[in-house]
Amino acid sequence: GDIDKGKYAHYTLKEINDQRLTVVHAGRQDEATMEKFCNILASAKDIYITGSGTSYHSALIFKHMLARFGKIRAETVMSSESQYALASMDSNSVLVAISQSGETADVLDSVRLAKNQGANVLSIVNVTTSSLARASDAYLSTNCGPEIGVAATKSFTGQLALIYNVTDRLCKNCLETEKAEFAVAVENIIANQASIIKVAEQMKDASDIYLLGRSLHYPIALEGALKLKELAYVHAEGIAAGELKHGPLALMEKNTFVIMINPRDATFNDTISNAHEIKARGATVIGISDRKDDVYDYWIEIPHLKEEAYYPIVEVIPLQILAYQLALAKNADPDYPRNLAKSVTVR
Ligand code: G6P
Repeated sequence: GDIDKGKYAHYTLKEINDQRLTVVHAGRQDEATMEKFCNILASAKDIYITGSGTSYHSALIFKHMLARFGKIRAETVMSSESQYALASMDSNSVLVAISQSGETADVLDSVRLAKNQGANVLSIVNVTTSSLARASDAYLSTNCGPEIGVAATKSFTGQLALIYNVTDRLCKNCLETEKAEFAVAVENIIANQASIIKVAEQMKDASDIYLLGRSLHYPIALEGALKLKELAYVHAEGIAAGELKHGPLALMEKNTFVIMINPRDATFNDTISNAHEIKARGATVIGISDRKDDVYDYWIEIPHLKEEAYYPIVEVIPLQILAYQLALAKNADPDYPRNLAKSVTVR
């Protein structure tokens, strides 16, 4: 069944592999619920999107997608910060809460705050019997089956698949459809892990890893850094690539590892320029891209996609695999990282 590791050494590895199917399944939503969810969203005076950890990174992508394709303005609030940031809601506001478990205390607190101010609550959950689902006016389900590994993997890509569906509806199908290609893209990355394993070997003794990306790739830089901290116990930091010159460039030297998330989209050339600046300081540059470039010391290939907005779903997978491989290289248990819990039900 679903909560069996099967042939895999760890749940985390199984769940990374599950994504071949789960990214497609997440898209299968009950039509009436989807319509209700989108109607509440479209008629809101103001929209706040919240979540914790990985689910907060989905919130950042959602905000970006709504702005770019729906011309809809939304604010993101980390659930742990919501008590200080959600004071301006009223009965015309909507809070969108994203949570795999639906039981994270910080998230439930933000929902309580929103309801006290008369706002509507929408949610994206994986556990449909959860407190969050029950507290919501409408919820969408990521449908990806139980996620056992403490670090979120398939629930994150499931959340993204739903966010893309909602955005596509709100922009009247302005996104290219390539659901089937998704599954193939994920499959290809998983089948060709040699380059990722090579990078993990190189990084085994690294004390600092930086991940850079622009636009939609910035939340993925944050998510990749979170995976590396959780699974491999290494200091990792996600940085918006354009901010390099405003400070982080001072950190670049020999022995620094920098992962550039750089598929061939509108951000490509600017991020390549950043890669040159970093390389000139002697750092090791790893490129995650559908296009090889001489500036990369190591290239992790991802498939080319017709719809550039979908890259986050495929580019996060090599980062999950990298964190998993690095955990193994360091003899850490990838399923149960020290000091962390799958669902944090305390404040
Ligand atoms: C915990 C987990 C994280 C997760 C976060 C939010 O901190 O260790 O991996 O991203 O909770 O969980 P949720 O169930 O609300 O998505």
